[in-house]
Amino acid sequence: MTRTLLICKPDAVERGLVGEILGRLERKGLRIVAAELRLIDADLARRHYHEHAEKPFFAPLIEFITRSPSLVAVLDGPPGTWAILRSLMGATDPTKAAPGTIRGDLAIDSTENLVHGSDSEDSAAAEIALFFPGPGA
Ligand code: RTP
Ligand code: MG
Repeated sequence: MTRTLLICKPDAVERGLVGEILGRLERKGLRIVAAELRLIDADLARRHYHEHAEKPFFAPLIEFITRSPSLVAVLDGPPGTWAILRSLMGATDPTKAAPGTIRGDLAIDSTENLVHGSDSEDSAAAEIALFFPGPGA
C-alpha cells in the first residue's frame, strides 16, 4: 500500500492554508492522485471517526469536521506513505507538535488541527475506500 488519505479539515480551508499544506506534501515528494473539496456530512464523519465514538471530544469533533468543506485527497508515494504523511503532520495536539511540522507551525487548537492522515496501512485502505469508493483511487 503506497497510498494514504489526507483531509485538509475545515479550519485549513477557512484559513486559506490548503495551498501551504499541499505544497509541503508535494515538495516532500508525495503525489496527489485524487482530491475533492467536499462538505463531509455527519454520517460520513461518524463512520470515519468511529474509533472515537466514546471519547469526550467526539461530539465537538463531528461538529467541527462537518461545519464547512474539507479538501479530501489521496496521496501516493513509497511504501508506508501513511507514516510519511503522519510525520509531516506532527503530533495531534498542536501545542506539542514539533516545529517544522504542519501542526507545529500552523495550528494551536487541539480540535482544529488542520489535517487528518490515516494512521496505518489498514486504515489507509479503509479510509480511501470510504471517501473514494469505486475503482478510481
Ligand atoms: P486525525 O485522526 O484527525 O488524523 O488525528 P490524529 O490521528 O492525530 O488524532 P486522533 O486521536 O485520531 O483524534 C482525532 C481528532 O480528534 C480531535 N481531537 N480533539 N480536544 C481534544 O482533546 C481532541 N483530541 C482529539 C482532533 O481533531 C484530532 O485530530
Ligand atoms: Mg486519528
